[in-house]
Amino acid sequence: MTGWLLRYEGLDPAQEPLREALCTLGNGRFATRGAAPESRAGGCHYPGTYAAGVFNRLTDEVDGRRVENESMVNLPDWQSLTLRIAEGPDLGPETGTVSAYVQELDLRRGVLTRRYRVTDAQGRTTRIAQRRLVSMADPFLAALDTTVVAENWEGRIVVRSGLDGRVENTGVARYRHLSGRHLRPGEAAVGDDGVVQVTAETCTSRIRIGLAARHRVLVDGRPCDVPVVPLVEGDTYAGTEVALDVVPDRAVTVEKVVALCTSRDRAIDEPGAAAGDELVRAPWFDGALARHEFAWRRLWDRCDVEIDGRVRPSLILRLHVFHLLQTVSPHSIDLDVGIPARGLHGEAYRGHVFWDELFVLPFLSLRLPEVARAMLLYRWRRLPQARAAARAAGRRGAMFPWQSGSTGREESQLLHLNPRSGHWLPDNSALQRHIGLAVAFNTWRYYEATGDIAFLDVHGAEMLLEVAAFFADLATYDRSDDRYDICGVMGPDEYHDALPWRDRPGLDDNAYTNVMTAWTLARAQDCLDLLGPRRQAELLDQLGLGRPDLERWEHVSRKLRLCWHDDGVLSQFRGYDRLEEFDWDGYRRRYGDISRLDRILEAQGDSTNGYKLSKQADAVMVFQLLTADEFYAVLDRLGYPHDRQTIPRTIRYYVDRTCHGSTLSKVVHAWVLARGNRRRAWDYWLEALESDIADTQGGTTGEGIHLGAMAGTVDLLQRAFTGLETRGDALGLDPYLPDALASMRFRLRYRDHPEVEVAITHHEVVVGGNPGQAAVLPLRVRDVTYQLDPRSSLRVPLSRKRNSRDR
Ligand code: BGC
Repeated sequence: MTGWLLRYEGLDPAQEPLREALCTLGNGRFATRGAAPESRAGGCHYPGTYAAGVFNRLTDEVDGRRVENESMVNLPDWQSLTLRIAEGPDLGPETGTVSAYVQELDLRRGVLTRRYRVTDAQGRTTRIAQRRLVSMADPFLAALDTTVVAENWEGRIVVRSGLDGRVENTGVARYRHLSGRHLRPGEAAVGDDGVVQVTAETCTSRIRIGLAARHRVLVDGRPCDVPVVPLVEGDTYAGTEVALDVVPDRAVTVEKVVALCTSRDRAIDEPGAAAGDELVRAPWFDGALARHEFAWRRLWDRCDVEIDGRVRPSLILRLHVFHLLQTVSPHSIDLDVGIPARGLHGEAYRGHVFWDELFVLPFLSLRLPEVARAMLLYRWRRLPQARAAARAAGRRGAMFPWQSGSTGREESQLLHLNPRSGHWLPDNSALQRHIGLAVAFNTWRYYEATGDIAFLDVHGAEMLLEVAAFFADLATYDRSDDRYDICGVMGPDEYHDALPWRDRPGLDDNAYTNVMTAWTLARAQDCLDLLGPRRQAELLDQLGLGRPDLERWEHVSRKLRLCWHDDGVLSQFRGYDRLEEFDWDGYRRRYGDISRLDRILEAQGDSTNGYKLSKQADAVMVFQLLTADEFYAVLDRLGYPHDRQTIPRTIRYYVDRTCHGSTLSKVVHAWVLARGNRRRAWDYWLEALESDIADTQGGTTGEGIHLGAMAGTVDLLQRAFTGLETRGDALGLDPYLPDALASMRFRLRYRDHPEVEVAITHHEVVVGGNPGQAAVLPLRVRDVTYQLDPRSSLRVPLSRKRNSRDR
């Protein structure tokens, strides 16, 4: 392991799903798991390829109920390539002995390599080396090259390589009871020119997919002509076979270049023909590699976050940035796609988009704002659906879905399986109305970071106001104590979906929802003020909002109810204090890993609803999203007394009652402890870093990375430990590095300043602009404001006295 290289030695079938997910290659438009090219789905392998936004809906019957699921579709396998000696079996661990196996993912260059030796039953040893890329430069292209060297034999090696459309969605064991055949075959053919083509169509969304591949052979690095045998199997597989004469120590290489197009792409005609055209223009492997490396260099230039010499955290941070950029990149801008919670790396959560973009957008807004904007536009285009959903629920404004796919309708499943008990259970998670608050929050923070008033004017304000209108309408007035309540919802903690003494799902006055509603209603007014009277009048008119509505928003934002425990802790929801304390020690002793308490308790005929426990940060999540000042301003607005201990007291209470059943949870805990308990924050951060690389949830990463947690660990570093803020038309820094972290350095884009260099140690912060940039950078370090001439840099010494705040 080095700061840029994820390296695995030896084969380990049990670890293979994890490696496949972590070695996924992608470019924001499509991605392919790092499965061995010779593997087919089954056993420990799952060679999935997914294109952003390519969804399909299938229907099943479960327990007499019709269940529809929309899934990101597994596309034909472009990597498919096998090797065999003469008439022998395919070379691999099943037919020979594999040794010296090394797999490396080079994060800097975006290249996956695999090197190994395989010795067959006759003692013939062959050395194999493969390189793969999914081009960050040419978004339709991928390439694989395979070099073979016979070590102690000579004879014939046969390489069979093709495009394999015999695929289904079978990547997640829990979903295998449900249908997974999304593709209807089109054509499979090999042209006279040797170009291999496969087309298919998704069966209900009717998205057409076209793939084309060409091959060439090199001997000792020099191209040579060899006879090619075309192979076509039905309408789903097309490939070629070449027989190569090998002698010891002579390298024979087969290069494969592939283009993948879908009917969702712009500026193409028929996807099959388009893939063929792309291929004609495509360079061979080294040419594609050079362009790809250059594109990655540009991305790293903007996106790398350097920390002092620690190899493992540095590598994991880069791995997280790498997978973030492979899921959403400048190639996503044109696609009308959201941010899938599990990346384009596997089939968990069916490729759906949740609130996890809260953890991803801050990184993008400060590096690649055009990409962040595109992600917000995914939401904006689905406003009509969100409005219709609000109407169907008898509400005004827009109600965004908890899980979103192609159309923006609610895609959450109605039933979910507890694999521990085998029970199908009602899934109420769609009651997480707070998703809309995340959309509004992201919109506002994007504006603060970029100053993109045009976006706010044309798209952002509309979203913000429609979300505000929904929540203001959702709140019901309780005259008896002059407070508004938001009833029948769920907070982020998915282990509470109902009160144990009530037979309908949903909770009342979830603290997270109510605080964020009050904040959103206040920002909606700020947004209107910012746009000026003409646009303000237009928008209100367009959205059917009048002065009485704005007055109600104002009233709700001052009168929403928050519930408190007797000792001044913010209560997660109304009635939480009546729940039982949970036997944490007993369950830990009995089960070891208790992160999935929902499954454990349900299998015992019990329920998480009855206890003071949380799957993940819920009430404390507000302290991640809002600064202390913002939070206390909300309390002042709502007329709740507080002291400077309200936040730490509330954090302390929930930290001990959270089992971290979501990878997001440790990110949030690290964040909220970053100021008050740096040691513990650092430990949580290190644990959050391990979520995927070490698959700490025991098997979930193989089904797709946890993009929110990945991005969250990076965002934490850039914003929590640095106190970086974009509020108030200035870039604010208030660094507070954990003791274990000596320094960090990164570059960001703030408003009109494309390259702001930030370097932070325990002793000083240095901010540099970019030469040639004329505008002055408004900067705040701790409480002092500066106007930085971007042609120079600013060095501000940091006093250590703040560390006394650590407990
Ligand atoms: C978490 C949600 C999250 C979802 C997708 C769930 O386990 O509870 O907060 O949005 O995973 O990552």
